[in-house]
Amino acid sequence: MSGTSEIKALQEGERELLLAIRESDFGRNLLAGLSRSPRSIAPKFFYDATGSALFDRICELPEYYPTRTELDILHSNASQIAEQMGAHANIIEFGAGSLEKIRVLLDAFPPDRAPDRFIPVDISAEHLEDSAQSLRSAYPCLEVLPIAGDYMKPEQLVDIEEMGGRKVGFFSGSTIGNFTPNETTAFLRRAQKMLAGGGLLVGVDLVKDAQTLHQAYNDSEGVTAAFNLNLLVRANAELQADFDPDGFMHQAFYNEPMQRVEMHLVSLRRQTVRVAGYNFRFEEGDTIHTENSHKFTVEGFREIAAAAGFRPGPVWTDDAGLFSIHWLESPSATPVPR
Ligand code: AVJ
Repeated sequence: MSGTSEIKALQEGERELLLAIRESDFGRNLLAGLSRSPRSIAPKFFYDATGSALFDRICELPEYYPTRTELDILHSNASQIAEQMGAHANIIEFGAGSLEKIRVLLDAFPPDRAPDRFIPVDISAEHLEDSAQSLRSAYPCLEVLPIAGDYMKPEQLVDIEEMGGRKVGFFSGSTIGNFTPNETTAFLRRAQKMLAGGGLLVGVDLVKDAQTLHQAYNDSEGVTAAFNLNLLVRANAELQADFDPDGFMHQAFYNEPMQRVEMHLVSLRRQTVRVAGYNFRFEEGDTIHTENSHKFTVEGFREIAAAAGFRPGPVWTDDAGLFSIHWLESPSATPVPR
């Protein structure tokens, strides 16, 4: 990495801008990720406005089974799920996105047991406000309190931790599959404490044949490729970067021993890219690892949840066994015996 000395010669305004970029969450993550070997970036940075819109299109693709299948499972089992969630719950949705799935659940509660509050937490602020507004008009009795933030940062969840009432989490879409095993355990432990006395409903994608997985992440319309490459477009717009998106290629494959689909961006030629005043050299074939999407077995996921302090409850799946939805009960904090 070079560039620290050059920055001194820049105009004051430009210097301030570069320093601010280097301090931003995206800037820090990308600069650190490009300085490591193998190169990588966290998948949460896919979701700027364009990335969120592309992801919504992915969810509609014939090859991308998870969204459709999870919605089918929710529809088929909505009243049982609502019963587990209990009366007058405060529902916290992590990584809420378009707020389509929660409607299926809200519609399944008998009126006298309807949830009191709905708190969607999402990193994509614009997306979230719009969806919250349309949910309010559809469910006038429901208090909708969106939080624009990163649910992996504990300090952004204190308001929820301090809130009273029965708390129930909803983490759909197998977004949990994006985490490393350590992050999964850390997230589940924190959720278990936050939701004590309630529970967590979590959508989990299942291990399956490599071909189905390959097609789901290599769709024929190239939407997933555009979603992956948009990371570079976003870096150009926000981080004073000069990636040539045509100089990189989308790559996705199932890493069977690791039980995960991996996405990478592959450099198509030798090139140098500038990001926030630093130069990064790519040889032809060099990659940036942009996403892991872990797949689980039903039993394997229940074990992970139990190790994090949950009591695994009912599991719902589709007939083909593509996807699963788990109810994890969170025991109330037991007083320390003395
Ligand atoms: C939103 C993380 C569940 O891993 O399947 C879709 C994101 N990446 N196509 C997934 C994604 C490529 C998705 N998650």
